[in-house]
Amino acid sequence: MKSRGLSGAVPLSHFFLRERLKTGDCAVDATCGNGHDTLLLAQLVGQGGRVWAFDVQENALVATEERLAGAGCLDRVVLVHSGHERLAEVVSEPVKAVVFNLGFLPGAPRETVTSSETTLAALEQAAELLLPGGIITLAVYTGHPGGAVEGRAVEAWAAALAPGRFNVWRCRQGNRSEVAPYLVVVERIPS
Ligand SMILES: C[S@@+](CC[C@H](N)C(=O)[O-])C[C@H]1O[C@@H](n2cnc3c(N)ncnc32)[C@H](O)[C@@H]1O
Repeated sequence: MKSRGLSGAVPLSHFFLRERLKTGDCAVDATCGNGHDTLLLAQLVGQGGRVWAFDVQENALVATEERLAGAGCLDRVVLVHSGHERLAEVVSEPVKAVVFNLGFLPGAPRETVTSSETTLAALEQAAELLLPGGIITLAVYTGHPGGAVEGRAVEAWAAALAPGRFNVWRCRQGNRSEVAPYLVVVERIPS
C-alpha cells in the first residue's frame, strides 16, 4: 500500500514509537484490534523484548495472533483477553510504551467500543508503569457515540498530570476537519 506519510493519528503515533522504542524494551498495546499497532511494537522491541496486547474481543485477538504469526513475531507477544482496565494485574514490570487506539474495531459490529471509565482506569495504571522516557500514545476518535466524551475525559486526565513529571502533547492535523482523529502523547520526563 502507498504510504500517506504522517497522515492521521495512527501514523503519527508510529513515528513517536519508532523514535522511542529500542530492542529489548517492554511495551503494551492496550487495544490490539486487528493487530497493526501490536505488530509494530513487536518489531521494534525485537526477540529480546516483550509486548502485552489487550482486547476484550476474541476475534480481535485471533486477528492479532494471525498477523503476528505471519510476520514471525508471535514469540515476544502475550495476548491478553481482558479489558485494559486490568493492566496492572497482568503487567508488573515497567514499560517503555503504552498504545491506545480508541473507538471500535474496524470491520466489526460497533457495539464494543472503548469507554471513558475503563480508558481512564487504564491510563492511571499505564502512567504508573511507565519508565522515565517512556510514552503513552492515544489515537482519539470523536465521530462515534461516546467518542467526544471519551476524548474530553482523556484530555482532562492528561492536562492534570504534574508538569514536572510528564510532558503532554495534543497533536491535530492542521489541514483536516476539527472532528478528524487526533493524537495525545504523554511522555514521562527522563530522569
Ligand atoms: C480502534 S480498535 C484498535 C485497532 C488496533 N490498534 C489495530 O491496530 O487494528 C479499538 C479496540 O479496542 C477494543 N476495546 C474496547 N474496549 C476495550 C477495553 N476495555 N480493553 C481493551 N480493549 C478494548 C475493541 O474491542 C477494539 O478492538
